[in-house]
Amino acid sequence: RSIHSAVSRSRSQLLRRGYATEPVPERKVAILGAAGGIGQPLSLLMKLNPLVSTLSLYDIAGTPGVAADVSHINSRSEVAGFAGEEELGKALEGADVVIIPAGVPRKPGMTRDDLFNINAGIVKSLATAISKYCPHALVNMISNPVNSTVPIAAEVFKKAGTYDEKRLFGVTTLDVVRAKTFYAGKARVPVADVNVPVIGGHAGVTILPLFSQATPSANLDADVIEALTRRTQDGGTEVVTAKAGKGSATLSMAYAGAIFADACLKGLNGVPDVVECSYVQSNIISELPFFASKVRIGKNGVEEILGLGTLSDFEQEGLEKLKSELKSSIEKGIKFASQ
Ligand code: NAD
Ligand code: LMR
Repeated sequence: RSIHSAVSRSRSQLLRRGYATEPVPERKVAILGAAGGIGQPLSLLMKLNPLVSTLSLYDIAGTPGVAADVSHINSRSEVAGFAGEEELGKALEGADVVIIPAGVPRKPGMTRDDLFNINAGIVKSLATAISKYCPHALVNMISNPVNSTVPIAAEVFKKAGTYDEKRLFGVTTLDVVRAKTFYAGKARVPVADVNVPVIGGHAGVTILPLFSQATPSANLDADVIEALTRRTQDGGTEVVTAKAGKGSATLSMAYAGAIFADACLKGLNGVPDVVECSYVQSNIISELPFFASKVRIGKNGVEEILGLGTLSDFEQEGLEKLKSELKSSIEKGIKFASQ
């Protein structure tokens, strides 16, 4: 009995010591577009994240209600809602991570690029505010077309003199989430164990899952790999079609956005070996200044862009096929922002 109580005493001392020497840092997360289809469930998931101490919810309207609602959840973060442009500065001040799911979603028959005319302007004005109020934040861009909105934000930050390529991320986590789910179904392996890198960009053929590197490995036939690749590339359209005019992926996207923001918070907090796929400024493919691949996230954002590894012939072909579309989407974003 005395041994037992001595052991439990030293364990509780250890726990106390661990707690005293490694307090969880204060972190402010701002969500821009927080009252929308993605924004609301993402606000919920970020409220559940114990790494967040302040959760700032911004939209052009509707955020006081969302903020009041999630604020009643008995988790760590303080929640505040901000509505309308005049409150954007307050929403952003002191933010460590800014997540942007603001803008219009697709309807059936549209491509992500069809959203450019509306969303490019929204992203430009939000990026301008970020450069003014929280220039050091890690920015998680969800708004489509991601292939263009990330270059737009980069140009805005450059013009403002605040650009740090390590701090700007296009969120492609939903492609990874889909690739993992679809692969697990075909390979008949537990989905929780699956890892699949997805490279390139975030639209149609620019989404390139590397199933040859999927773990646990499985000997899938070439036609199955082709079908899995196509399903991952068309995953967004599958949801847009099923929602029949009521928007695009919101719940799975909120999940994916929460996973990616959590990785950013862990990186900022100094957790080692935080690796996620993301669309970032990159020199992996010389003619594509932005490219999605595995990146290590650390205290300053992108710590290392990891190489692509060995590609199968099918993936190599896919990489060649995506270059021209991705290049023109990047150029379109840069041109818009520099006008
Ligand atoms: P939604 O229409 O339901 O919500 C968008 C929200 O943005 C609305 O609440 C709207 O008021 C707000 N908004 C508009 N202009 C704004 C501004 N200037 N400032 C702040 N907020 C503003 O749309 P959704 O389904 O949530 O999708 C949002 C975006 O995310 C779309 O562009 C969609 O294509 C994109 N998306 C990206 C991915 C991805 O994988 N990266 C996945 C799904 C959706
Ligand atoms: C997705 O992949 O679900 C998003 O990019 C939304 C869309 O328009 O498909």
